[in-house]
Order: sequence, then structure tokens, then C-alpha cells
Amino acid sequence: MKSPDQHAPSARQTNRRSLLLAAGGALILGATGLPFAARAASQHQNFLPDLPYALDALDPVLSANTLGYHYGKHHKAYADNTAKLIAGTPQEGQSLAQLIAASAGKADQVALFNNAAQTWNHSFYWQSLRPRGGGEPPAELRQRLEAAFGSTANFKKEFASAATTQFGSGWAWLVADGDRLKIIKTGNADTPLTAGLKPLLAIDVWEHAYYLDYQNRRADYVNAVLDKLINWEFALRNLG
Ligand SMILES: [Fe+2]
Repeated sequence: MKSPDQHAPSARQTNRRSLLLAAGGALILGATGLPFAARAASQHQNFLPDLPYALDALDPVLSANTLGYHYGKHHKAYADNTAKLIAGTPQEGQSLAQLIAASAGKADQVALFNNAAQTWNHSFYWQSLRPRGGGEPPAELRQRLEAAFGSTANFKKEFASAATTQFGSGWAWLVADGDRLKIIKTGNADTPLTAGLKPLLAIDVWEHAYYLDYQNRRADYVNAVLDKLINWEFALRNLG
């Protein structure tokens, strides 16, 4: 399967060239074939992972258009901003988890926290989905869900409720709090990592996650993801 990352950057580069050429400017390429500005940016730390599937792999639940913007624009911007914020500082070279832990709750590091946490949250979200996901969880996870929520169906109902009632932008999560499974929701960039919880699954409920496909119908997006895309195997692996 062709990596989605092979699609997105080439599309971005094509767009960038088109824009430069359309503007009538001479396009000066470096030895790598990339414009100098792009080459300089690529020397920053790269926090953007490849998507684990092609841009159109979640269609029709989530369109290639949605993933193109969500991964190629929003997630990439968070990753690039994180790299720029730490470039040339003592924090350069640290992992996202280290940056999140160091900046959480600090008034003078809000921008770094927001961008690092959003980068981490999105990387986790892509893995929480998979083509032809949903259905019945593996037996080991199903038993844990039944112990915590009564049944898989009830877990999905409670998870959907958390996702749809998160006011404004944020996330719904299945987490492990020690041995207990819990559903929580977080606002904006907040992440369970800072509360000492182990994330198992996430659904992004920022409008950019669903508006192109579902407009204001957040509940339809959440239920479609739970029924058709949720990656139970990823949750089971995270349980460890
Ligand atoms: Fe998002």
C-alpha cells in the first residue's frame, strides 16, 4: 500500500510550486530540489509521523478531503509549530512527551504545550482509527469493557455521550487509570498524559475533524467512527 505521506507532501510541494509560479516569481531550487524555504523548515525536528493508512482509506466515513486537511494541514501545523518553538533552545531534541510534561500548566509555555499536545493527540487519534474497524472488540478487551461499562454497547453509548457533550473543541478518550478503564473528555489540547492516565483510544471532536463530511452533526461522526473505524486492536496493545 502506498504510504499516505507519499501523497500529501508531493501535493503540498505541487501546490507551493503552483502558487510561486502563479505569483510570477522565479522558483529557486536548492540541491534537494526543494525551494530553499522548504529545505530550511525540513531541518527542524520532525514531529509529524506518517499516517498509518492512505488518505482515502477511511472513506466514506471520513473522506480523503477531511484527512487531507486534518492531517496535511492541521496536524502538520501543530508539528511544525512545535519544532519552531524549540529550535535553538535547550529543549531541542526532546520528545513530545517530554515537551508536554515540561510545559503543562506553565503560563509562559502555553503555545508550546498546545502545539506539542495537539501533535501527540493527533498522532494517537490516527492510530485509534483503521480501515474496516469497529465491530466486536477482541475477547480480552471485550471482557475489560464489560467489567467497566457493563457491555460493549454501553461503552460505545457512554463514549459517544462524552464525545458529543464536550463543549467546544476537545477530545474523548478511553483511558486506563491503574487497573480501571474510564471514559474522559478533555478540552482544546489537553491530554490524559498530564493526569497520569494511560490513553487507550481517542476521538477528536474539534470541528475540523468532521465538518467537511458531517457539518454540525457531531453525533453522526462519532457514531460512524465507533461503528466502522475504531481500532480495538490498538486499544488492546495500549493496555499492554
Ligand atoms: Fe484535529
